[in-house]
Amino acid sequence: MRKKITIVGVGHVGATTAQLAAYKELGDVVLIDIIEGVPQGKGLDLQESAPLELFDSNIMGTNDYKDTANSDIVVITAGVPRKPGMSREDLLNTNVKIVKSVTEQLAKYSPNAFVIVVSNPLDAMCYVAMKVGNFPRHRIIGLSGVLDSARMRSFISMELNVSMDDVHAMVMGLHGDSMVPLPRYSTVSGISITELMSREKIEKIIERTKNGGGEIVNLLKTGSAYYAPGSAIVQMIESILKDKKRVLPCAAYLDGEYGMKGVFMGVPLKLGIKGIDEIIQLKLTDNEMASLHKSAEEGKKTISQIKL
Ligand code: 2OP
Repeated sequence: MRKKITIVGVGHVGATTAQLAAYKELGDVVLIDIIEGVPQGKGLDLQESAPLELFDSNIMGTNDYKDTANSDIVVITAGVPRKPGMSREDLLNTNVKIVKSVTEQLAKYSPNAFVIVVSNPLDAMCYVAMKVGNFPRHRIIGLSGVLDSARMRSFISMELNVSMDDVHAMVMGLHGDSMVPLPRYSTVSGISITELMSREKIEKIIERTKNGGGEIVNLLKTGSAYYAPGSAIVQMIESILKDKKRVLPCAAYLDGEYGMKGVFMGVPLKLGIKGIDEIIQLKLTDNEMASLHKSAEEGKKTISQIKL
């Protein structure tokens, strides 16, 4: 039987995710949004691309959560995006309400689903979805490091003029200004970038990575990024549904890992059909660990402001 993927919020991120998931035939896709006509219209339009792109996924647009019942994966992209000059944390109060009501519906109709959270501030929204939906922690995963490390990989490849195929990067911590790009674990064909680039060039790439989402918001002026987020979400969906067990940096709820508890943040984890199979604990230096703990403190501060 085909897998069922529900995408909540049919803005640019939701629509791009649906398109890529359909092209890869990862399952049937349900698009849901509160705006009448938009999920139906985008769903039908995408369905009509099937004879051209040659995929057999069924695409459905709806405003009714009943249609999302028994989804294998739900992706929460609902919420308002940033405007230039805003931090992801500035969206907290508005998006808590949205993610809370969405999660109540998702948990009612798909209590066994894997939940991929995309709405910002990301790590706090993961917390809301876990608490409200009562999902176990191995089934709640946030989009953070896959996107942030894709940005870092792009900047490394552009700087060194080497194929994207060979570049890997590791970004941990919150999906926010305090994220922690790790040059020691960022490589070109296994060679750490610390051996390939000057300290100054690495620092520039770290800063650009941290500001990667903001750079796009400032350029677009009316929304945030969606091509790289859509690709990153689909990589996560694929790793779960195909049980690929990819090792990807994603936001997970920490319960003692890296010496932290009660907070979501980006860590490398193995993603397969059970959701989070394992959180991989890197041997960080004192400085790297201090940056990670600083990031976690920011995350806890944001969580403490949430009223559910
Ligand atoms: C980004 O970094 C939207 O948070 C997302 O672009």
